[in-house]
Amino acid sequence: MINFDFQAIKNKGRKEIDDSQNLEELDEIWRRYLGKKGEITHILSSLKDLPKEKRGEIGKETNLLKKFFEEEIEKAKRELKNRLDRESVKKSFIDITVPGKKIETGHLHPLTSIRMEVEKIFESMGFSIVEGPHIETEWYNFDALNIPKNHPARDLWDTLWLKEKQKNQKLLLRTHTSPVQIRYMEKNNPPLRIIVPGRVFRHESSNVSHDIQFHQIEGLMVDKEISVADFKGITEEFLKRFFKKKIITRLRPGYFPFVEPAFEIDFQCLICNGKGCPTCRQEGWIEICPGGMVHPNVFKAVGLNPKEWQGFAFGIGFDRLVMMRYKIEDIRLLFSGDLRFLKQF
Ligand code: DAH
Repeated sequence: MINFDFQAIKNKGRKEIDDSQNLEELDEIWRRYLGKKGEITHILSSLKDLPKEKRGEIGKETNLLKKFFEEEIEKAKRELKNRLDRESVKKSFIDITVPGKKIETGHLHPLTSIRMEVEKIFESMGFSIVEGPHIETEWYNFDALNIPKNHPARDLWDTLWLKEKQKNQKLLLRTHTSPVQIRYMEKNNPPLRIIVPGRVFRHESSNVSHDIQFHQIEGLMVDKEISVADFKGITEEFLKRFFKKKIITRLRPGYFPFVEPAFEIDFQCLICNGKGCPTCRQEGWIEICPGGMVHPNVFKAVGLNPKEWQGFAFGIGFDRLVMMRYKIEDIRLLFSGDLRFLKQF
């Protein structure tokens, strides 16, 4: 039986199309009406069996119904696609008005940034930057620096000795950067100007001003006519550029076995201009670094003729310099890795 109630077919189709949720359902509707065995296809193929006078009119109506389904299914598909597209755009949508997340970048440790600053100043005065090993032999750390075994001067350094030996040489964690003077002069002929920034180690209990590891910057300048005036001039110029102020220094007699004469360099307190205040402990002067003229025995140890060459050396306590710059009261903070401390720089 063929259903010729076209209006009823149309209404049913209309509802099915409107209710469809996805493309598969729409394809299924298409098949049901327009496919090979579809309802409308069936009507079209049975037109030939109708009486002639009815054929024309019903044929026309059937074609209109076919057109209706073709167009409506096509339209519904288009709308569905557009909706799906809009939803996927919504999913990947970036809202540029949402406040951004801050990316934490970190920064150099104050020990590093100040070291780079010091290096730059000395480089501009013709000094090269040199490094040496943390594990040293007894020879480089002491003997070659005119500090023989059993000499009381060895007590100036509380040494961390290692169990291992190297070719019968006792090994230790270097107590100062001075051994690099020897290492460098063994391999390089004067004239020379170097600074040696680096970590050093002492067997000490730690407190606000001492730690088992800290930093020094060794300086060494060797040439034919070097005097104490060069020593004072270079160190004063460095301090002037570092503190960005006119600096007044004085040399006090000191003692270190590898320099003769040996000095302690003080600079006039920048807070009270020498009058005396809590920062300089009422002295008017602040001790900055020891140094002096390279001892003839040191030149001999590296095979240089002390009658031909002179030089000066110094050893800056680098951590103290950083602490002075930033008014840090406890040296241990520098190694603590505490972000509350580090984020202040
Ligand atoms: N090396 C010494 C120390 O660790 C510091 C020092 C003193 C270095 C005098 C020098 C110098 O080069 O001439 O305490």
